[in-house]
Amino acid sequence: MIWVCSTCGNSSSQWWGSCKSCEAMGTMTQTSVSQTEFVEDKSRKSWIVPRKTDELGPQRLTDVNKGVNQLTWRIPLSGVFGAEVSRVLGGGLVPGCLVLVGGDPGVGKSTLLLQIAAMVAQGGDSGGPAPVLYISGEESVEQIGNRADRMGMGIGTEELFLYSSTDIEDILEKAQLLSPRALIIDSIQTMYLKGVSGSAGGIMQVNECTSTLLRYAKSTDVPVFLIGHVTKTGEIAGPRVLEHIVDVVLYMEGERYSSHRFLRSVKNRFGSTDELGVFEMSQSGLQAVSNPSEIFLSEQQLDFDVLAGLAIAVIVDGSRTFLIEIQALCTPGMPVSGSVTGIPQSRFNMITRVLMKQAGLKLQDNVIFVNVVSGVKLTDTAGDLAIAAAICSSFLESPIPNDVAFIGEIGLGGELRGVSRMEKRVNAVSKLGYRKCIVPKSAEKSLASLDLGGMKVLGCKNLKEVINTVF
Ligand code: TYD
Ligand code: MG
Repeated sequence: MIWVCSTCGNSSSQWWGSCKSCEAMGTMTQTSVSQTEFVEDKSRKSWIVPRKTDELGPQRLTDVNKGVNQLTWRIPLSGVFGAEVSRVLGGGLVPGCLVLVGGDPGVGKSTLLLQIAAMVAQGGDSGGPAPVLYISGEESVEQIGNRADRMGMGIGTEELFLYSSTDIEDILEKAQLLSPRALIIDSIQTMYLKGVSGSAGGIMQVNECTSTLLRYAKSTDVPVFLIGHVTKTGEIAGPRVLEHIVDVVLYMEGERYSSHRFLRSVKNRFGSTDELGVFEMSQSGLQAVSNPSEIFLSEQQLDFDVLAGLAIAVIVDGSRTFLIEIQALCTPGMPVSGSVTGIPQSRFNMITRVLMKQAGLKLQDNVIFVNVVSGVKLTDTAGDLAIAAAICSSFLESPIPNDVAFIGEIGLGGELRGVSRMEKRVNAVSKLGYRKCIVPKSAEKSLASLDLGGMKVLGCKNLKEVINTVF
């Protein structure tokens, strides 16, 4: 007799109140050794897939790349929405790839995958319609149908098949009958494989189900999408090894009160992870935002009526450049204190102290508030200069003209430091019709040769120079 943890599968010769391996409480259950052996064999009955004969031994690299290269052939995705998804996947859907999509509850994972399913089923550029199988372990077929109706997907989706199940063997049997163009599993934490110990969502189950689906994907060349839940700490629930098994890991992100959704690639065996897809959640599902640079600008900024305390930062995220509005408010009050949203408190403290010490701003008798619009978290240090400029503008009660943008990191000496991808940032600013861009002096020269459609790039050495140039 042995004791096996139902969560992680760790076995022990004696009973423990909490599992020695995963520390789950009260999960050790008694199992006879013969039973576990029997069970293991049974679970692996039909899904061990024979490998192609030419893969059985080591091959020459030069032989491998002859003929059609699988990794360069992709299922193209059509339309604006398809282009956005394609960009994140690194240029299309690779046959037989296993893609994991993680994200907070309610962020829109099921909606996204239902739309991808409908799009792949319709075909478009990749040929005519073909079946796509959407499996839900969380919602009934009627619920998904209702959702699709609300999203107005009634037309052109005859080839989208819905099935509600949590049993992997049952699902793969249905998939083999249908031989779909793609398979979607919503979510991996609700799936179980008969004969594997532990409940659905436990480490053992998630591991085994994912490995089984991987074998299915690789042997049939059907791309498989898995939806993964995220724990409180923001990681995909279940074993870390899940992210190692799959080919592509995408995270879906979005602020609770904003309709924008971001799809970020954090692992991609077939392309760059430097990609970000931008979508907007609407009544009819997710719409791609193909020109997202302006989504974080408030309406005031797009108007001509300018207030003191506003400055524009230029940040790069993945392959995308965004202009973000920073708001600051200085009011007389207790010695320098304040409240910040959207930037780390330590960064705020540093910038205000540098403004006082190195630029001579008498902020000591002020309460300072700083806010990054749209609830964005600004971690790119290229936003430092805009934060400082917004504080100066409010303190001096002098509005910054709304055709000026700021790029640069601030050092402790008040000096401006260069940041990565300067050209890309400056180009994005000029495309939006800005007239001036304040950059660190060190970056000015390399930007001189760019065609910026009449926008002036002004290089400044330190904060004092910036204040003299702008105010
Ligand atoms: P959902 O895809 O169910 O999230 P997840 O699978 O990540 O838990 O989407 C949840 C939210 O999206 C829900 O709160 C409602 C909203 N939504 C829309 O705004 N428009 C739509 O067309 C749909 C289908 C959902
Ligand atoms: Mg869902």
